[in-house]
Formats: sequence, structure tokens, C-alpha cells
Amino acid sequence: MPPYYCHDQATLLIGDAVEQLRTLPERSVDAVVSSPPYYFQRDYGVEGQYGLEATPQEYLDTLRLVFREVRRVLADDGTLWLNLGDAYSQRKAVRLSSHQEGLHGARGARPSWRESRAAGRARMSRENLIDGQAVTEKSLMMLPERLAIGMCEDGWILRNKIVWAMTATTPDPTRDRIPGKWEPVLLFSKSARYHFDTSTPGTDSDVWRFPASSGAGSHTASYPLELPLRCIRAGCKPGGTVLDPFSGSGTTGEAALQLGREYIGIDLNPAYHELAKDRFARRALTP
Ligand SMILES: C[S@@+](CC[C@H](N)C(=O)[O-])C[C@H]1O[C@@H](n2cnc3c(N)ncnc32)[C@H](O)[C@@H]1O
Repeated sequence: MPPYYCHDQATLLIGDAVEQLRTLPERSVDAVVSSPPYYFQRDYGVEGQYGLEATPQEYLDTLRLVFREVRRVLADDGTLWLNLGDAYSQRKAVRLSSHQEGLHGARGARPSWRESRAAGRARMSRENLIDGQAVTEKSLMMLPERLAIGMCEDGWILRNKIVWAMTATTPDPTRDRIPGKWEPVLLFSKSARYHFDTSTPGTDSDVWRFPASSGAGSHTASYPLELPLRCIRAGCKPGGTVLDPFSGSGTTGEAALQLGREYIGIDLNPAYHELAKDRFARRALTP
């Protein structure tokens, strides 16, 4: 299948992350910066989406497969920067992201839960099984850590667990624990020796302070531009190629282009690639 979009230094591929990664040659990218769908966080409304697997174990297995393919396409001296939030073990419902087409409630705004359920647009998680065992109700499931352990078994080297301290977050209504205000960004390398620019501002500490989201267009799960900018400056050689297998609104792509790197982005959802295309076009117009 031809690329969804190919212009100057950016290529967007449409489809499932594993399938599209399999079309890329081995050792063809220099850095990967990405944030996969979190477990039962939102419904992107697209067939084949990750994140709504029947059990967290299936979710972890799927992501592990993605990062095996990522490892294949990464140069031997390349780096992977992975932002992934955790989830609590609970029966949880998600509904379609509010910006999905046709999703307008009676008030013309986001539909109520009742409207979402009535329209069959709310999905419920099941028992949270990992390794065949149910994780105790209400417990954090340690999904980033479990994935990282699996990835290390697949050959990855885990070099950093960076704390992304979020400076602006949405309120967390839970009353019996402390609100979560940070997420990990895991730095992996493929080999013991890899490209790393220690002169990159901000890499003197593993606590990074950025706002929670860039709020890019209508993509609600986008990270702030400063995050991929820092990762790419530090972990991608000048003129190299950056890949994001969960490209979304193209934040990684915008950072890559800004820093004179090439970009390859994969996403299942054409609406998100359209947001990314607009971003790249706006960039080209900016003197
Ligand atoms: C957390 S968001 C990424 C946001 C992105 N970092 C940004 O700044 O806009 C995860 C993305 O994964 C995409 N996605 C979900 N399942 C996928 C799959 N099976 N293959 C490829 N992309 C998928 C979703 O459409 C969504 O855009």
C-alpha cells in the first residue's frame, strides 16, 4: 500500500502498527519516540485499535510484539523513548473519544454516559488477568514496568526511567489516594553503545517538567512538543530518521522536522494523520 502521505522529510503510513512496521527495512530508523494507547483509557473508535484488549495480559503481549518489530527496524546505535501510563485494576467503562465523527449528545456537546451506553458506544473492561491471575481490585497494575521487563527479555537495554512531572493536569476526583501527576518515559537502547548527545538541555536530570498535553487539534492524548524535542535532540543523530508507530496528531513528527530529522509516522486513524498533515503544512509556511 502506498504511504498515506509523503512530503519532503515526512512519511505517514496508515494501518496497524505491527503490520506497517513489518513493511519497513531492518535498521532503517535512528530513534523511536512514542506513546502507545494506554490500557482502557479511551476508545479511538477504529477497528483494530490497541488498548481495549480483553485482558491486560493481551495488551502487554500486543505491545511487546510492536516493540519486537521496532527493535528490528532500529539501527544498532539507535534509541527508543517510550511514554506509557499505568492503569488501576478495576471494572472500567470507556466511551468513544468525544471528537469522533457523529458523536454529539443531546446538548450538542459530549454525549452523557447514558447516551453513550444507549448508542452502544461504551465498552466495559473485564477481569484484569495478568499471567492467568486476577490483579487485586484497585491495585495499580504496573503495566509500564511489566512491559519493560518483557522487552528486556527480548533484548532491549533499559537505560532510564525518566519521570515526566506534569505541570498542568486535569483534576483527579479519587478520594482515597494521591492524584497521579507523573508518567514514565523509558529510554531503551538496542546495543551497549548508542548515539546519545549529553549536551542536550534538560538531560542533566531524570525528572522532566512539562505540561500534561499539547492539546494538539482534537487529539486528546497528545504529548507536549517539548517532550519529543528533548528525546530527539539527545537520542537521534543529526540528519537521522525518527519513527513513531503511534503517530496520532504528529507531535513527534513536528519535533523531528523542526530538528532537521526525517520522520515516519504510523497510525490506524486517518483523522489523526489529517491533523498531522495540517501541522506539517503549517510548519512549512512558517518562515
Ligand atoms: C496516545 S495516542 C498518541 C498521541 C501522539 N503521541 C500525539 O502526540 O498526538 C495513541 C495513538 O495510537 C493509535 N493507535 C491505536 N491502535 C493502533 C494500532 N493498532 N496501530 C496503529 N496505531 C494505533 C491511536 O489512533 C492514537 O492516535
